[in-house]
Amino acid sequence: MRILSIESSCDETAAAVIEDGRRIISSVVATQVEEHKLYGGVVPEIASRRHCESINGVINETLAQAQMSLDMIDAIGVTYAPGLIGALLVGVNFAKGLSLSTGLPLIPVHHLRGHIAANYLAHQELEPPFLCLVVSGGHSHIVEVRDYTDMKVIGKTRDDAAGEAFDKAARSMGMPYPGGIHLDKAAQSGDPDAFRFPRPKLSGNPYDFSFSGLKTAVINQIHNATQRGEQLPVNDICASFRKTVVESLLTNFLAASEELGYNKLVLAGGVSANSLLRERTQQECDKRGYKCYYPPLSLCGDNGAMIGSQAYYEYKAGNTADMTLNAAATMNIASQ
Ligand code: KG4
Ligand code: ZN
Repeated sequence: MRILSIESSCDETAAAVIEDGRRIISSVVATQVEEHKLYGGVVPEIASRRHCESINGVINETLAQAQMSLDMIDAIGVTYAPGLIGALLVGVNFAKGLSLSTGLPLIPVHHLRGHIAANYLAHQELEPPFLCLVVSGGHSHIVEVRDYTDMKVIGKTRDDAAGEAFDKAARSMGMPYPGGIHLDKAAQSGDPDAFRFPRPKLSGNPYDFSFSGLKTAVINQIHNATQRGEQLPVNDICASFRKTVVESLLTNFLAASEELGYNKLVLAGGVSANSLLRERTQQECDKRGYKCYYPPLSLCGDNGAMIGSQAYYEYKAGNTADMTLNAAATMNIASQ
């Protein structure tokens, strides 16, 4: 089964043709990041406008690279939640138009389920059940993936997402948006033990995260050093910050795996590109004899291919939509 999939939830207009949920026939990502960089973050109104301008070309290019026309496609998949509502609406309406004009089934896909499915494209042997750490610019979740379309959130952030914390810390050191990747690079040559940043102690769910206190601590550190006219030890701050975030994520992820009896751990979302997170998760899994999976760097960020993979499993589970499909800015991963 070949699915043409569309992703427009944030600042990438993306599409792909995916076969049987596991093979990428073509994949095109048009990023708007250079324009949003000017403002230090995504400007929702600009994002919607750029999606409108790009989507036709992105889909034509995706079909051209696949050397296919629409009559060789079996279904249309689209991200419908969560994300920027104006941005999502562009993809959803385009997909509805395609479905209406071709008669092809329309498959709504939850964006975070898509991030998890990026792993199915890279690891042919990977199948649920497994425990997944989904870390992106907007979300930090520990998700029990019981089956392809049966998921339960075990823990989540109470405030900032991990990616958001990376981006805000990077911004406070003058790095361009999105700063996560720049902070990760700067951290490579820094001392991770140079600064002690707080690890939150939360009451209630032991698997929840909190990153806002850590972000504030870094910003304060930078302000204090700047006010004293000191040279900012950027690489050391980045390395210490990165270590604190990664260890926070990993502590809860590993504790949840032990408590719930999972020995297959999966990373997903933009922050799964973080080099320390990948390395440390692999190390801890090796120590315990667990299987460890994360997507290749090309599939960590937003893309259409991951949506096409998940769309296949949603279709098999009977999750299709009609012309009443609407986009939603928020939606629990468990209740798609
Ligand atoms: O999944 P994604 O592309 O978009 C959302 O769905 O939010 O995630 C983007 C996030 C950004 O916050 C970005 O800074 C972060 O992923 N990110 C990283 C790295 N690469 C991307 N964070 C830390 N280290 C990286 N290497
Ligand atoms: Zn994403």
